[in-house]
Amino acid sequence: MVNPKRYLVTAALPYANGPLHIGHLAGCYLPADIYVRFRRLEGEEVLFICGSDEHGAAITLRAMKEGISPRTLVDRYHRLFQETFSGVDIGFDYYFRTSHELHHQVARDFFLKLYKKGEFVEKHTEQFYDEKAGIFLADRYIKGTCPECGYPEAYGDQCEKCGTSLSPTELIHPVSTLTGTTPVLKTTKHWFFPLQKHESWLRKWIEDGVLEGQQHHWPEQWRTHVIGQCRSWLDGGLRERAMTRDLDWGVEVPEEVPGSAGKKLYVWMDAPIGYISATQKWAEERGADWKKWWQDEETALIHFIGKDNIVFHCIIFPALLHAHGDYILPYNVPANQFLNFEGDKISTSRGWAVWVHEFIQEMPDRIDELRFYLSKIMPEHKDSEFQWSGFMEAVNSDLVNNLGNFIHRVIHLTHRLFEGKVPPYDEEVAITASRNPDELSFWDSEVLDLFDLADEVRQQIHAFEFRKALQGILEIAARGNQLLQFNAPWELIKKNRVAAETVVHLGLIYVDVLGLLVHPYMPRTAAKIRALLNKEAIREAGELKEAFEILASLERSLLVPGSTVHPPERLFRKVEEAEIQSQREKLHRLLSKADKPKEAKSSKPVETMPTIEFEDFSRMDLRVGTVLRAERIKGADKLLRLEVDLGSEQRQIVAGVAQQYSPEELVGKKVVVVANLKPKKLRGVESQGMVLMAEDRGGRLHLVAPPDECEDGAKVR
Ligand code: 2FM
Ligand code: ZN
Repeated sequence: MVNPKRYLVTAALPYANGPLHIGHLAGCYLPADIYVRFRRLEGEEVLFICGSDEHGAAITLRAMKEGISPRTLVDRYHRLFQETFSGVDIGFDYYFRTSHELHHQVARDFFLKLYKKGEFVEKHTEQFYDEKAGIFLADRYIKGTCPECGYPEAYGDQCEKCGTSLSPTELIHPVSTLTGTTPVLKTTKHWFFPLQKHESWLRKWIEDGVLEGQQHHWPEQWRTHVIGQCRSWLDGGLRERAMTRDLDWGVEVPEEVPGSAGKKLYVWMDAPIGYISATQKWAEERGADWKKWWQDEETALIHFIGKDNIVFHCIIFPALLHAHGDYILPYNVPANQFLNFEGDKISTSRGWAVWVHEFIQEMPDRIDELRFYLSKIMPEHKDSEFQWSGFMEAVNSDLVNNLGNFIHRVIHLTHRLFEGKVPPYDEEVAITASRNPDELSFWDSEVLDLFDLADEVRQQIHAFEFRKALQGILEIAARGNQLLQFNAPWELIKKNRVAAETVVHLGLIYVDVLGLLVHPYMPRTAAKIRALLNKEAIREAGELKEAFEILASLERSLLVPGSTVHPPERLFRKVEEAEIQSQREKLHRLLSKADKPKEAKSSKPVETMPTIEFEDFSRMDLRVGTVLRAERIKGADKLLRLEVDLGSEQRQIVAGVAQQYSPEELVGKKVVVVANLKPKKLRGVESQGMVLMAEDRGGRLHLVAPPDECEDGAKVR
């Protein structure tokens, strides 16, 4: 396929187990949205699809930790995602969810077709089983020591410290994260997809862009790091991968498959099929055709994802699509690298992030500024970093001083010199300050100059170089500023009115073109620019294509002389130090609650109680436990009744933490219990022990919490 007829753009389905942060936005949703809007401005046919990824161990694990059902959890985040995306103007055509019945149907049919074609290998394997919880453990539910680097907190599928991909049986001292017990190996049946069978065509397709003897895409248009990661997977040798799991929550393996009871599809098989089911749902609601988007060779399928998703979108999903046989393969997978934040990795658990929904609440009039800054630092080829100071600098210098100032100047001049009407222009007017070396008239030379700059931006977007394209746009604003500076129409008008009119007319054309070009990045700003020029709102229906045609013709103008221009209005407001300072303070407030390592303070002896003997201490029997249930005690606003699992027995304990912790927050938490404390009645409820708490200087209580893998009943010494 040399020239795609239409574009099917997908953005990775976010896991519905936590809110979206700036890394998600910069990594995938924003570039996808920019690309889609740009293509539409060029008159291309585009469909933009996404949805919530609502299955898999990440979801059930989170739900279990919160003591709620997976359904409650995914409903919460599905709603939040929809609000968040719309709050930052990410304009999907359809936002679906994988727990929807239609998706289940589509995914089951997909599986069944592969099954019937004999694409799976059925195997009995030994897998870890948690005897206490009575379930087979998904890889993510198992932690242990990494055999490669010795990191004690490695997951059963991957060590997050050294990046090695693992299988749970490779872990040293595996522990179930659900119960803290050591899991046992038990036999179970699964359906495996032999990826190695697909290795040779995959390599040809990825490295040369050739599929079944045809040029399918241009590999030189794929990002180097994407090809590099694929190559290292291919070179490392592909293995068969289980496409099913023993889980309660997920897409059921079709009942036509013998032995399917209790089996669910592996989430990485189910989720990308979500792109297909979302398209079907979109089409169903509109009476449109979904097949042309997935089964026509002239559709370019483009997956926007983060780098941790590369293998799934470039190797596993394409191999599944190919094995199925009815579908096209991705035309490009412009994966981004990671965004860091203020000198550190973004970390959900530590709260080291900017949450998008919070940004929307706290800075509702700075949505375009956020989109701008994230585009400016987008981690396209390497990791990059969000800094509040960088945000301030980008807004103040690029948006306020350059772009905003230029547009304001032109509009202001139109009012000052020409009563707020677009002045006429003269194609033949002679002005010596022409910037084009050829023997062109001033008009032709300036218009061509602008065309070239805008065309450069277009090429960069086509090449997924969103940062460079944005720099190109700022360059256009700077050139516009120079046009005014060089020709000083406010002076020129005294000697040569026609020349001054032509310069300001050109300035307004710059504004118009800028309005179109910034639209994909900053749709709200673009709308304001259109309003300033009294032009109809952008509908993303080929407006830029039309503008390019007019510019290239050199014969017409984008603007009608004599039409009115709105009085100038500021497009951007400076970011003051106080604004970002309050964000930093918020971050550090949150962080002081989390476990960020602190810098050493000047040392001062702690005032302790009188010294005791070791024997005194050892009379205390301290044990690790897990909170199984928690509830408020009627009439006691500080107390919670807890049921704590101490391994061999369960204890009822009354804890005075109701003002710091909600019952939901405590369920699933590890605690340390004084197990041999004499039972005592508190508000009529017997407390069979005590839960250890740390009290900070502000009198707040914090659970003393051993790591999750610590077994219940373990002695604390
Ligand atoms: O990494 C993630 O957040 C996954 N939920 C992405 C899934 S993308 C696709 F396959 F649906
Ligand atoms: Zn490791």
